[in-house]
Amino acid sequence: MTKTYKEIQGDGGSDVAGQIAGLQGRLRDRMAAVKCKIAVMSGKGGVGKSTVTANLAAALAARGAAVGVLDADVYGPSLAQMFGLRGRQLTYDSQGVQPPVTASGIKVMSMDFFLADGKTPVVWDGPQQEAFAWKGMLEMHTLREFLTDTDWGELDYLLIDLPPGTSQFATLTDLLGKPDGTVVISIPTAVSRLVVQRSISMITEVLKLPVLGVVENMSAYYCGGCDSERPLFNGPEITDYGGTPVLGRIPFDPRMAEASDAGTPFVESHALEPPAAAFLTLATELKTRVSPAPA
Ligand SMILES: Nc1ncnc2c1ncn2[C@@H]1O[C@H](COP(=O)(O)OP(=O)(O)OP(=O)(O)O)[C@@H](O)[C@H]1O
Ligand SMILES: [Mg+2]
Repeated sequence: MTKTYKEIQGDGGSDVAGQIAGLQGRLRDRMAAVKCKIAVMSGKGGVGKSTVTANLAAALAARGAAVGVLDADVYGPSLAQMFGLRGRQLTYDSQGVQPPVTASGIKVMSMDFFLADGKTPVVWDGPQQEAFAWKGMLEMHTLREFLTDTDWGELDYLLIDLPPGTSQFATLTDLLGKPDGTVVISIPTAVSRLVVQRSISMITEVLKLPVLGVVENMSAYYCGGCDSERPLFNGPEITDYGGTPVLGRIPFDPRMAEASDAGTPFVESHALEPPAAAFLTLATELKTRVSPAPA
């Protein structure tokens, strides 16, 4: 018969069950001020999760929403760079860790702020021989602390940019329960669609959680001088991923990568360009499906 922590007799006074309840209570209290928690994930790496997160955040902020972004890619954080916040010093007060804020008011937390410079990797301090036993636990606690200890304040949207794969998504939902929305990023190639479809099945069939929809990034090629879209990949347009709808399509535009590298979301630096409009349309789509309005 399986026992829960609460049933273990004589834990030497460490009160493990009480400690876990305390941690979960603090997380719940912090998240109570966040109206919509949106997970941005993909089974596939490099398809634009972080780019879409940064620009969707900027589009929501441009529409007047209070927005926070959590970079949950602990080993490969990229959002501090994409928001132009690298090198910011974190400060701490009675409300918690103060997240760096962009000029447009987006609050950002990332492992990047804890690393000395651009060359420093994330290395956990512990007995390397038994690393398998504790590494996953530290990754989970890092995510929990980012969610709990950051002074997010009152937010309409907290976008959570996950690393590729489904593992950190599962950890996130262990901590948070069902996100208010899960957005899956893909690109229109057979390889991406195959891997992404598997990650959707993992979420819906194994974790039994809903997926709001897919965003197809790099859906076409938009070059600054062309003033219209050209094909980028030859994959046929599809409207759903096994029943999961496509929420939006974002073209590839070389200036979008330049904007990310320069530290300003494309939606802010090229607000009047069609690819920026695609993000604003996506923000509207998200707002209609996941409304921060009080119930
Ligand atoms: N629509 C786009 N137009 C131009 N460049 C893009 C676009 N989307 C993404 N990129 C570029 O492609 C690269 C990968 O994007 P990004 O880092 O957002 O992917 P990711 O899915 O978050 O990757 P990872 O799996 O490593 O987390 C980046 O250099 C980014 O600037
Ligand atoms: Mg990323």
